[in-house]
Amino acid sequence: MSQKKIDKQMRKNEDKRAKGRIFKKDSSFLKAEENVFDVPTLKLLYSFANKGFISELGGSISTGKEANVFYATGNEGEVAVKIYRINSSTFKSMDPYILKDPRFTHIRHSRKDIVFAWTQKEFQNLLRISKAEIRSPKPITCDRNVLIMEFMGKNGVAYPSLKEVKMDEEAARVFYDQIIESMRRMYVRASLVHADLSEYNILIDIEKEEAVIIDVGQAVTLNHPNAREFLARDIENIKRFFKKFGIEEETKDILERIKQKKEEDTIIEPDSEEITIDASEDEDEIENKEFEK
Ligand SMILES: Nc1ncnc2c1ncn2[C@@H]1O[C@H](COP(=O)(O)OP(=O)(O)O)[C@@H](O)[C@H]1O
Ligand SMILES: [Mg+2]
Repeated sequence: MSQKKIDKQMRKNEDKRAKGRIFKKDSSFLKAEENVFDVPTLKLLYSFANKGFISELGGSISTGKEANVFYATGNEGEVAVKIYRINSSTFKSMDPYILKDPRFTHIRHSRKDIVFAWTQKEFQNLLRISKAEIRSPKPITCDRNVLIMEFMGKNGVAYPSLKEVKMDEEAARVFYDQIIESMRRMYVRASLVHADLSEYNILIDIEKEEAVIIDVGQAVTLNHPNAREFLARDIENIKRFFKKFGIEEETKDILERIKQKKEEDTIIEPDSEEITIDASEDEDEIENKEFEK
């Protein structure tokens, strides 16, 4: 698409926004973010708005190395919108997690394709994880580099991370056991290893006193060649964090708990979860019709 056409499209969208048809209240939002997101990403957000997934886009929840997370409301209620930056300078660090994952071997290795595949991978991992009855954000939809999921929080306030929560040894023990059980369900039921588990990627629902597992883009299947090593690292991170609360369990005992099958377990069949990315799709081909609605 030529620059001129983009400008025209952007102006059209500007007009729509001014009329309040896309993002009702916070129309200043995208303006402020124009430097962060490229035109196709903005278009994709409009298309999610047209489909009702987003009716009001709220503030930024987090700006990470590879992705930004925003709060929004839509026809699914409160949601978190995770937007992977295509020009992220650290995208190379995604390689070991995705290129050796048997589900992704056919992905073309351009930066854009890796980011799109990564977003799909996080969506599918979230799907498997919620099927395995692990407390985590329910995935709602995803396309290209944008993932929309259940907002883990209440009235616009995200749950605190495990790192931020003040707790005594008794409460720590409860969360510790919940986390080990989540790792077990992930391993046994979902055949996944989180691979970036730490006090930063676990939120705490204070009301229900429940640990919530997030940030599963890098989670790998058990047949990934580095799955063992990633699991060992996850275990060490959890051990290190809980040591402060007087909890010390031998790595081999933790590993045994994680691998233990229980009668109530149902194994998630990964049948139709093959990642399908149309690598030939170019950003210029993104449906313009979406914007004419
Ligand atoms: N579904 C969600 N609900 C509420 N807050 C979320 C959600 N997902 C992410 N966050 C917030 O955004 C932060 C970054 O998200 P995360 O998925 O961990 O991405 P990153 O790769 O940048 O670490 C989290 O630490 C959390 O505070
Ligand atoms: Mg994180």
